[in-house]
Amino acid sequence: MPISIKLGIAGRLFTAALACLTLAATVPTGRLFIQSTSPEVPLYVYTPIPESGLEPRNIHLSFGDNETSVVVTWSTRNDTQSQVQLMSVQPPNATEKLYNGSSTIFVDSGTKKATQYVHRVTLPDLGWGGLFKYRCGSQATGWSDWFEFRTPKRGFSPRLAMFGDMGMVNAQSLPRLMQDASAGMYDAILHVGDFAYDMQEQDGATGDQFMQMIQPIAARLPYMTCVGNHEFMYNFSHYKNRFTMPKGFGGDGESMFYSFDLGPAHIIGISTEFYFFVEYGVDQLKSQYDWLQADLERASKNRAARPWIIIMGHRPMYCSNDDGDDCTFGALFMREGFLARWYPLEPLLQKYGVDLALWAHEHTYERMWPVTRLEVRNGSWAEPYSEPAALCTSSLGRLVVESVTTPSGRRCTILRSAAPTMATPGCRSSTPPTSAWSRSATISRVES
Ligand SMILES: [Fe+2]
Repeated sequence: MPISIKLGIAGRLFTAALACLTLAATVPTGRLFIQSTSPEVPLYVYTPIPESGLEPRNIHLSFGDNETSVVVTWSTRNDTQSQVQLMSVQPPNATEKLYNGSSTIFVDSGTKKATQYVHRVTLPDLGWGGLFKYRCGSQATGWSDWFEFRTPKRGFSPRLAMFGDMGMVNAQSLPRLMQDASAGMYDAILHVGDFAYDMQEQDGATGDQFMQMIQPIAARLPYMTCVGNHEFMYNFSHYKNRFTMPKGFGGDGESMFYSFDLGPAHIIGISTEFYFFVEYGVDQLKSQYDWLQADLERASKNRAARPWIIIMGHRPMYCSNDDGDDCTFGALFMREGFLARWYPLEPLLQKYGVDLALWAHEHTYERMWPVTRLEVRNGSWAEPYSEPAALCTSSLGRLVVESVTTPSGRRCTILRSAAPTMATPGCRSSTPPTSAWSRSATISRVES
């Protein structure tokens, strides 16, 4: 079955969000209001953290080991059971189904040793194209509010919101994300590192507040993540304990490196921070590198089913900010390996033809032509790239995926954003791209 992907990097959302949203303030009730100056974007009201110690908080979803499986993760201050009540809305089914999971205890390493219990319940194989509502908690200690989520339709083309570096205090993009998520614009979120600035502050209360702040989005859409440098404290323990990334293709089991299939794409999340926080051990750098090589090998043999290989990590391998820091020295570590020698990423990405790399960290929006070894591999509709290592960096972007058939009737997969067009040879048509296409930077891959 042909599968196609069109993926646009959304300067539009980024620009609109930063231009229109200006005010974040804490009011005496403890509620956080994020106000938009745009009449199109409503006020966002932060829901306070429940104080009972028993009530679920920080509720969020992630993909399980396949696209129709969902993991519900939440925390409680006290030790409670881990249960989810699930009801199918579409197709309708009045019968509630009860799922059981488990919890792990997480103790912050600050002076208070603040303790919470992180609950995880897997909802496996829910089927394609369903609309569900759920609540989490337990029959013994009480339930959360009801939340709704959808499973993708068979053969779907994913629509993803991608960003990094949000922060607890000045999350200016959140109202727009909320609005877009409510409108059903996305199938999932990709948050590419740096979450609360910083989660461990206030003995972990900042992390709790951040997770509560994103709950209206994350409780209804899979919130897929990478670790960033701002999660470095206590060996990234807040990140490792708060999120639940898939384990179906292996990885470290702590959400630091993992991968999952989504529609026509194989998406890989890695820790770029292993290259910089080596005091936590060089062995994890080797573990990630060995796993990544095996994962890319497997994914490259599965192009017929998943034509796109996309990697995401926090610090960019290429960027252009003139800060004398991560776009020069740091990027060298990423491309050529730790101390310009060990476990270089770029040869791996080039060898296996990784199509798109998503980075964050720089607090700028930037996208690049396909580039390897500091050279741009030209890509245009007339002269497509032949060494596909398309790299893109962004602090906030939107990825939109659609199906494409060329005027000649050839099915192919497409990446698109707002700049000139690129394509692979097999996807070239005898006729030039349409005016709509020519407004976009597009990279395409032929379907088998
Ligand atoms: Fe960062």
